[in-house]
Amino acid sequence: MTVWIEGATGKAGRRVVDALTAAGLPVRAASRHPGEPNGSVTPVRFDWYDETTWAPALGDADAVFLKGLDSDDQAATIITRFLGAAPAVRRVVLMSAVGVDRTSDDAPRRAVELAVQNSGKRWTILRPSWFLQNFDEDEWVFARALRETGELYAGSGESRAAFTDTRDLAGAAVAVMTEEGHDGRGYTITGPESLTFGEVAELLAKVSGRPIVHVDATPEEHRKHFEESGRPKEWVDHMLHLFKLVRAGVFAPVTHDFEHLTGKAPRTPQAYAEETWRPTNPT
Ligand SMILES: NC(=O)c1ccc[n+]([C@@H]2O[C@H](COP(=O)([O-])OP(=O)(O)OC[C@H]3O[C@@H](n4cnc5c(N)ncnc54)[C@H](OP(=O)(O)O)[C@@H]3O)[C@@H](O)[C@H]2O)c1
Repeated sequence: MTVWIEGATGKAGRRVVDALTAAGLPVRAASRHPGEPNGSVTPVRFDWYDETTWAPALGDADAVFLKGLDSDDQAATIITRFLGAAPAVRRVVLMSAVGVDRTSDDAPRRAVELAVQNSGKRWTILRPSWFLQNFDEDEWVFARALRETGELYAGSGESRAAFTDTRDLAGAAVAVMTEEGHDGRGYTITGPESLTFGEVAELLAKVSGRPIVHVDATPEEHRKHFEESGRPKEWVDHMLHLFKLVRAGVFAPVTHDFEHLTGKAPRTPQAYAEETWRPTNPT
């Protein structure tokens, strides 16, 4: 099996590349800015908005890890066309997000799930909670403000999220990709505990030794904060929608799907913080 990985340079995709490679599978690592080949990893140029890149990027892959297109209302149409043009691909693992299966069929993320489910391929859906790696790797959501002003800027109130480590998402991807019994199933991947964003700020401050505070912004303040980043309006709208879901408690429940899939305990926020936020590892 050769696995094609979308978003292979991203917070999740990068770990999926590492985990599948460690499991001994050849990987085609797709993004618009591919790096250099390394062992069994073949980086390939791929752009959702340039169809001429699709077939050359897929090459001889017979399985794909998809993350989909986030803030594009046409994502389901594009993904249907992509999978329809890939007859050699028999297995699809889609990374969606917690709660998407409980939204209406015409919601863009749910439409992507349905596009995969109706593609005629063997499919499995992983629905992770918020990534811990957002705090140090996602420049626009949290990392820049944390670095420059010590603010964990999040209009979350006292709502909780069961933050997950992208390495655990990757471990789950390896399990469903390489073992039998996961066709037509969805799994919700979370960490082992649910924290408020205030508790995350306290944790990062304690471990890093830096002053870090949670800024519980109103939706209006949050919009202004994101608009000042210069990111596109669709992205800002998408982020505000995600924080509305945070406030509604959508990301709070802890599940045990990761243990069920891998036989391992999920990584804790404390462990992530110790590895990433200690002063010897400044972010
Ligand atoms: N962040 C979270 O907390 C969270 C939680 C649950 C689910 N998710 C889901 O995870 C996904 C995001 O994954 P991530 O955080 O790992 O992504 P990410 O870190 O934002 O990375 C995005 C990846 O997509 C590639 N990319 C961007 N535009 C592209 C295009 N037009 N064509 C092809 N590739 C493109 C980027 O590489 P290039 O720029 O080189 O193309 C990069 O590899 C979303 O769908 C989201 O719903 C995220």
